[in-house]
Amino acid sequence: MHRIAVVPGSFDPITLGHLDVIGRAAALFDELHVLVVHNPSKSALLPIAQRVALIEQSVTRAQLAGDIRVTSWTVGLLVDYCTDVGATVLVKGIRSQVDVAYETPMAIVNHDLAGVETIFMLPSPEHAHVSSSLVRQVAALGGNIAPYVPPAVADYLRSRDQ
Ligand code: PNS
Repeated sequence: MHRIAVVPGSFDPITLGHLDVIGRAAALFDELHVLVVHNPSKSALLPIAQRVALIEQSVTRAQLAGDIRVTSWTVGLLVDYCTDVGATVLVKGIRSQVDVAYETPMAIVNHDLAGVETIFMLPSPEHAHVSSSLVRQVAALGGNIAPYVPPAVADYLRSRDQ
């Protein structure tokens, strides 16, 4: 059986923690879709197309193994995308109990809606404090985000802000 999984998120921007989870998940599935989803409860730093481009560049530069496809989904439910492409599993990175509390209701609802399973994956502990919102804040205030994001993101934000 050809197993397809989806790693969904805002990815605004992709962080080293995300990239770690993407690499680990890609090793477990035949096909992995990294899906940029608009989250209306968050104010965006980057347009969705730019987030997709930065994920593609980051995956390429990190030379991650596996069949990794990057795309976006802005209409309808996340599970509708899964059904459309034949994906049966969602993979979510979990840094702490706070993430478990945030993700658990979504996992239950996504299973109720379409039978899609959610797998919680632990990133390396060195990434446990990294979040896109922290990166957005440090970048907005002129700090160095290079330790938290793939080089493609650091390069892009540096060139954009010059
Ligand atoms: O990176 P984020 O912002 O924590 O990702 C959250 C995301 C985009 C995965 C979540 O908001 C989501 O799944 N949105 C899709 C809309 C949806 O299907 N909602 C109902 C079931 S949870």
